[in-house]
Amino acid sequence: MGDDTLRLLWHGYLYPARRMGDAEICRTRLLLRPTVLLRGPDAARLFYDPSRFGREGAMPEPGRRTLVGVGGVQGLDGERHRHRKAMLLSLLSDERRADLLELIAGEWAAALPGWRRQARVVLADELPPILCRAVCQWAGVPLPVDEVTKRTGQLQAMIDGPLSVGPRHWAARRARREAEGWLVELVTAVRDGSVTPSSGSALAVVAAHREPDGQPLDARVAAVELLNLLRSTVAVERYVVFAAHALHHHPELRARLVDGDLDPVDFGHEVRRRYPFFPAVAAVATQPFTWRGEVVRRGDRALLDLYGTNHDPRVWADPYRFDPDRFAGAMPDPYAFVPQGGGDTATGHRCAGEALTAQILALAVGTLACSMSYRVPPQDLRISLARVPTRPASGFVLTHVEVHAPVTVDLSRRR
Ligand code: HEM
Repeated sequence: MGDDTLRLLWHGYLYPARRMGDAEICRTRLLLRPTVLLRGPDAARLFYDPSRFGREGAMPEPGRRTLVGVGGVQGLDGERHRHRKAMLLSLLSDERRADLLELIAGEWAAALPGWRRQARVVLADELPPILCRAVCQWAGVPLPVDEVTKRTGQLQAMIDGPLSVGPRHWAARRARREAEGWLVELVTAVRDGSVTPSSGSALAVVAAHREPDGQPLDARVAAVELLNLLRSTVAVERYVVFAAHALHHHPELRARLVDGDLDPVDFGHEVRRRYPFFPAVAAVATQPFTWRGEVVRRGDRALLDLYGTNHDPRVWADPYRFDPDRFAGAMPDPYAFVPQGGGDTATGHRCAGEALTAQILALAVGTLACSMSYRVPPQDLRISLARVPTRPASGFVLTHVEVHAPVTVDLSRRR
């Protein structure tokens, strides 16, 4: 079978659909390795079954050197995974998330007077430093004012580069090397006592964390885990930009948000279902088996199509329609709603920051719809599905920004 990597790069989010039609499983060859494509809730259940698939060695090299790093929780299995994940989830408890949300709301509120004076506000440029300043402060990571632009750029580059070739990819590799170097120094300084982070902060907890065998985390691995928190929080900018895009195209939903007739949490869930972010997640088959008549061999890489599963017509009625009401009342099957991975957060690899992401998005939706007004001038709002990750080409430009109400965090809606 010929290698399909060029077709993947060409089609981006739509590659699995082009390759599989509406099948749930299909064999191909990607990055010179036999690969099984999986799509839909039943396939997601299979993908997250630890007796069939593991994560060690699953992430393709370009992703490891840019997006996730080497030695982090994403590539662990079994007890080592559970132990590391529990540490990360302890940092993302209800209380700790509330602290971070307050910081984000404060940074956003502080930026608004400046936005009022600007002729144009490009959301994709303005939001990342807001999120970066807030998450660094929350994590106990010192961030001098004159380093905000550099560090924000590094965190963004790591997200932007994994599935690209050329300068974007090399920038992502350099960004990871530099950001890891920065945090290795910081973790080392905490361990030798020259820096004292506030107790319970992410920096303090990660620097002190021990592996199940009692050994401290390698300083580089500690840096990788801190970046899992910092990078991913800055990444939420893309969803906020998509939320602005959805509000622009659905003024009737904005009116319902203002009237209190639509929960911003539901709006945010629909943004995460409908708009593209990470196209797929990877695992490796740990034993041979047959599923839906297709043979899976030990060592095959599996890719679960997240974008395709979130738009699977077998579970989502009219899947390309933007309809937050589909989330009213109950959360869908955790293997059908998979923007941040599927299955169980604590025991599996589902995103540790999903609850935080949903809350940041609800805060952002409330702020965009209720705390401020703005105009959306003519601009290129097309979203290329060939570019991964993507966003509206213009970065979403606002003009005539006015502030009507304080930016507030509502923690009563916590789903
Ligand atoms: C833009 C928002 C985000 C998206 C689209 C996203 C997406 C994902 C995806 C697809 C995975 C992989 C799931 C799997 O391997 O099965 C993941 C894992 C992870 N995410 Fe997120 N994420 C986001 C935000 C966050 C935030 C805000 C944090 C923490 C502050 C975070 C921390 C993590 C961690 C630690 C993992 C590894 C979990 C594990 O391997 O057990 N993410 N995320």
